[in-house]
Amino acid sequence: MEGRRVLIKLGGGLITFKDEPCKVRSDILTACAERISNIVEMGWRPIIVHGAGGFGHLRAKQYSLSSGRDEMIAGQDEAVELVRKEMLDLNSQVCKALIDVGLKVSSHPPHTWSRGTGQGLVGSLQRFEADDGVIPITYGDVNDCDGPEGFGILSGDHLMERLATIEGVSKAIFALFGVDGVMSTPPDSEQQGILLEKIDSESDFIASHDSKIDVTGGITLKVACARRMAAGGIDVWMVNGEYPDRIVDSLLQTGTIGTNVIG
Ligand code: IPE
Repeated sequence: MEGRRVLIKLGGGLITFKDEPCKVRSDILTACAERISNIVEMGWRPIIVHGAGGFGHLRAKQYSLSSGRDEMIAGQDEAVELVRKEMLDLNSQVCKALIDVGLKVSSHPPHTWSRGTGQGLVGSLQRFEADDGVIPITYGDVNDCDGPEGFGILSGDHLMERLATIEGVSKAIFALFGVDGVMSTPPDSEQQGILLEKIDSESDFIASHDSKIDVTGGITLKVACARRMAAGGIDVWMVNGEYPDRIVDSLLQTGTIGTNVIG
């Protein structure tokens, strides 16, 4: 089955309630699944990555999992297992939403095929390369790490960056929640920000990061990963996933409302 490859990240804040433990936004998830089915009908072969939102960040934050093992914090090993279980639960709900719209999917939990975090992620991408009409799905996870830290948080944004090296991938879409793309100022700023329709390696923007909840890098990490992907020749879009049509429209020549990250 020939076709063009596109990476789609469904942000954790989009498909879950970020501030509440383990609750999926079913209406948005279903709408995204329907648009992904449209994208397949258009001849694209997606690889799906999803974030954690209220399934991973809250507990990871509580037990400081992103900085690795800390003997002073009791219960970290149990928390690692719990976050992995919660992520498997969220992943099965994402898989089900895609199956329900008639798609075939395969699930690839990072802790089973890779080690390390960030740009130090190690693991063969062969499982994502098959050309059999099955949509591979992976996600941000707690990964084992070499060295004294023992484990750490792998963001779906870093997975996007790594998957962009797969042959045939030409587009990547980050579907966000509550924002139309990258804004000139953070949402909580006193100044009214504007949507940056295009950003390149030179563009300035001021990021905000909800570090009370988010254990990965928020919009700053997304833009850093997106810029490196764009520099590698990928056409990257950041769109508001609450309007799932924009996920489809970003693949059209005409583009959509969102931020196009260019190399
Ligand atoms: C975070 O992944 C993974 C865990 C906290 C277990 P992401 O960084 O991709 O998640 P979101 O999209 O910000 O929720």
